[in-house]
Amino acid sequence: METERIAAGSVIMASKSIVISTGAGISAESGIKTFRDQNGLWENHKIEEVATPQGFYNNPVLVHQFYNLRRSHLNKVQPNAAHFALAELEKKWEGDCFLVTQNVDDLHRRAGSEKMVSIHGELKKARCVLCKTSFSWVDDMSTDSKCPHCLQLKCVRPDIVWFGELPYFMDEVYERISKCDLFVAIGTSGNVYPAASFSEHATAAQRIEVNLSPSIVASSFDEVIVGPATEKIPQLVASILNGQFKI
Ligand code: OAD
Repeated sequence: METERIAAGSVIMASKSIVISTGAGISAESGIKTFRDQNGLWENHKIEEVATPQGFYNNPVLVHQFYNLRRSHLNKVQPNAAHFALAELEKKWEGDCFLVTQNVDDLHRRAGSEKMVSIHGELKKARCVLCKTSFSWVDDMSTDSKCPHCLQLKCVRPDIVWFGELPYFMDEVYERISKCDLFVAIGTSGNVYPAASFSEHATAAQRIEVNLSPSIVASSFDEVIVGPATEKIPQLVASILNGQFKI
């Protein structure tokens, strides 16, 4: 009897899919600055200068400096309890569990998440503006950097999706979001599209937002959990995995 119950429960778990969407807030407690909170990155840097193709064209040295600092800072920070909890959810959940992050840090991957996409690119990747190849890049980048594929000089840029450019993996992301049973957005302010409208595409799902304070798109969620990610995400993951939270 017990075996049958467990087996039936497994069938339910296996058929339910979860999509998690994360923003800068999930990495804040690891010591990475968010963009729009007090003293956030966009308070001290002009978006048009460091996060647009035009800004890179006008002053590549400044842009490389900005991303070099952020890339080297990654060596000084660690994934936190929220990153680890999401990696655990991916491993233990029998259904599909997929992570979509706007973050360009590598903390989800270092915590163990594998089924994930980085829709705004990655600090530890570079892209060649000539041959368009994307490749791993862990050190500083400069206007003299050489593309390891086409071997041309002065053509390497951070593999970051800047304003005015198209986020990566969007077909797969919309496909998964439109079919998922649970959609959770964590630590994102709702200022940047398309991520800000993901919840509107999760029409078949329970939609939950987790944030320090309700985001500007909080009304598009069924539930808003207010509090720090390192506290609220391990709690939420535990209750999903032990079945207290019904999907
Ligand atoms: P924002 O800086 O806009 O928002 C961060 C959100 O995290 C805010 O709503 C905070 O309230 C929340 N937050 C802060 N600390 C938190 C914590 N400990 N626990 C939970 N929530 C917390 O960052 P994003 O929404 O990720 O794009 O920004 C989206 C995009 O805008 C970024 O990917 C970046 C930026 O311009 C590019 O650079 C292309």
